[in-house]
Amino acid sequence: MRRIAEPFQDTPGGLLPALHAVQDALGHVPREGVPVIAEVFNLSRAEVHGVLTYYHHFRTEAPPRHVVQVCRAESCQAMGAEALMAHVQLTLGCGGHGQAHGSRSADGRFGVEPVYCLGLCASSPALAVDGEPHARMSPARFDALIAEHIA
Ligand code: FES
Repeated sequence: MRRIAEPFQDTPGGLLPALHAVQDALGHVPREGVPVIAEVFNLSRAEVHGVLTYYHHFRTEAPPRHVVQVCRAESCQAMGAEALMAHVQLTLGCGGHGQAHGSRSADGRFGVEPVYCLGLCASSPALAVDGEPHARMSPARFDALIAEHIA
């Protein structure tokens, strides 16, 4: 981690690019790296932690293997996105229904995130599995999709 952060040490505002570089290299910015990064930039751990948690782009845990993004924008809301989100979370063991920034299964295998429009409004409700969008989704269609996709 030190090796990744040090090239940004003397750059004004170098903390953010350093955090991006760490996440690009490791897939996340491990919490145990905060003291190392703080030392590189001569900042307190609280300052680094503050930046890390302020930007939702940064993850402090390894990303889940599979990510399901459920659209919660207007058209999908009108077509049952809330119920779909609840079903997806229950099915994948990603509790925390209603969490604004997503949730993940206890084993880290699945993550569920809200998104706001996938461009499939005419075929709502929509979701994406590992970046691949799917329209006219229902709980039953999701079950079939996930069995096929993950099997
Ligand atoms: Fe859901 Fe546009 S509102 S895809």
